[in-house]
Amino acid sequence: MEAAALLHDIDKLPAVRPTVAALAHGAGSAEWLAWHGYPELGDAIIGHPVTRLADGPWFDRWFEGASIEALVVAYADKRAGQKVESMAERFASWEHRYPPEVRAEKARGSWTPETLTAVRQRAEALEARVCELVGVAPADIRRLEWTGRALRFARET
Ligand SMILES: [Fe+2]
Repeated sequence: MEAAALLHDIDKLPAVRPTVAALAHGAGSAEWLAWHGYPELGDAIIGHPVTRLADGPWFDRWFEGASIEALVVAYADKRAGQKVESMAERFASWEHRYPPEVRAEKARGSWTPETLTAVRQRAEALEARVCELVGVAPADIRRLEWTGRALRFARET
């Protein structure tokens, strides 16, 4: 789970993106990791992009059969920016960074107000399921203790 969480956005790296450019975000990370000997991580990565929440049939199929690792990685993506945030804060950040005209272009016009409402409802369902599975309330979600040291180390090297 931690490896998948740490590597879920690897297809955004400039050195990786061209090699998986034909694939959707997330699927590119899974494919690249499979090529490099880690096919087991793909299942936990492929469902994380927020755009998956906009595709109802895809999300419903994934949500029904997703592993706990996949659910946690997808949920963590909805809670973690540079710091752990509530989903409301995270969605507000996305809406600020990707105003409606940009979202429409990136998602090929599918981000109508109705879609945005459905996205939020699916995100809330994801949060409810993950928090029930791990027995923690959304407000009690915190970074693991080791991440502070790891982030400081990464910044200093
Ligand atoms: Fe991502």
